[in-house]
Amino acid sequence: MNQTQTGGSKDNGVRQTIVQLLSHMRDGKEIREYLSRFSGVDQERFAVIKVGGAVIRDDLEGLANALAFLQTVGLSPVVVHGGGPQLDAALGDAGIVEERVDGLRVTPDAAIPVVRETLTTANLSLVDAVRAAGGQAAAVPSGVFEAELVDRERLGRVGEPSRVRLDLVAAAARAGQAPILACLGETAEGCLVNVNADAAVRALVHALQPYKVIFLTGTGGLLDQTGQILSAINLATDYDELLAADWVSGGMQLKLQEIHRLLADLPLSSSVAITRPTELTRELFTHAGAGTLVRRGEKISALHAKAEIDMDRLDALVTRSFGRPAVTGYWDQVKIDHALISENYRAAAITRRMGAWTYLDKFAVQDDARGEGLGRAVWRQLIAYAPQLIWRSRTDNPVNGFYFEECDGAIRTSEWTVFWRGELGVTDAMIADILALPATLEAVT
Ligand code: ARG
Repeated sequence: MNQTQTGGSKDNGVRQTIVQLLSHMRDGKEIREYLSRFSGVDQERFAVIKVGGAVIRDDLEGLANALAFLQTVGLSPVVVHGGGPQLDAALGDAGIVEERVDGLRVTPDAAIPVVRETLTTANLSLVDAVRAAGGQAAAVPSGVFEAELVDRERLGRVGEPSRVRLDLVAAAARAGQAPILACLGETAEGCLVNVNADAAVRALVHALQPYKVIFLTGTGGLLDQTGQILSAINLATDYDELLAADWVSGGMQLKLQEIHRLLADLPLSSSVAITRPTELTRELFTHAGAGTLVRRGEKISALHAKAEIDMDRLDALVTRSFGRPAVTGYWDQVKIDHALISENYRAAAITRRMGAWTYLDKFAVQDDARGEGLGRAVWRQLIAYAPQLIWRSRTDNPVNGFYFEECDGAIRTSEWTVFWRGELGVTDAMIADILALPATLEAVT
């Protein structure tokens, strides 16, 4: 079927992806950073990607190009796909009436041949498309999930995975082929069962402990109340609030609970991304991403006394995030009013008092915490704490774009830009005082 595909069009898919990716980057540094980060984990542990049947139906080419691109840069994700719409159609054609109990598809014995045929066909169409796009993929339509019947009486041939044959998956991934799995399982006796796609992903994620879990959907992310894609969710600080919010639909609650459950089973460094196939490379290889990134995240604490703070770790964070250390004596002399510090010292805001104002002395977010929403979470707590906030930043600091969005006013000199927010007006004297403050970081060399 892919025989008609010429070499030229193979390259085109990947080339388009590269062009699209490059057009969203300021420089090649981001892509190199992410590439080395993703390549640093075992091949088969890079990512589990879940693809719904609707995406295979609606965006097979975008999906295949994205997977082929990952292979071009040496990454082989493990792909699990469903086939909901395809199954609905095929079962309808076969005259088998669809029935659901607790959201799970009831699978009568008579449906099994149709399920097998449909999922295998969907599986092969994805494998073919990846190959046509110049990638390497291995069809693994069954054999990976050993399953137990959930409730034969009520649900029929539906299985809950009890064991995952990782060797089948890992062998393909190590050979540089993306294993493409369908949600079919077998009982210990070898009886074929239908496995719910979420349950399959959960079992696979538990067994593989991947660095990323990626959901490819048509919507391309979780939506906020205005219908915009929510860029990042830090579960430690946002989860309860989101579940309680009136604009979060029942479907989104279930999705969040499922993600929470997946992340609770993974190391802190792992994350879940929800995006659409054509945005996958941008999501993976840029700081800003293109979709929703969910992490277990870190709690942020408010500390006041230096004795409560691990000053060495704070110093290390500042040095890492500004690329140069604080001047000698800085930490001894600084009078901390309020320090918001993330659990693992990856982001912090430190303030001191300036009359009725709060002066933001340092706002530091470590490089590998960018894009995950941790800095924004610290910032939100900061502005809630300090309604009258003033700060300065080097005029060439790339973070200033964010500051301009957040401030109510700013004054720029060639060296410093002073920003403020709040009801009270700033005076010239205050600005002069702030401009006159000594530098707190070593000069750039
Ligand atoms: N590329 C980075 C990653 O995959 C950051 C992505 C940020 N994404 C977002 N939707 N905020 O880890």
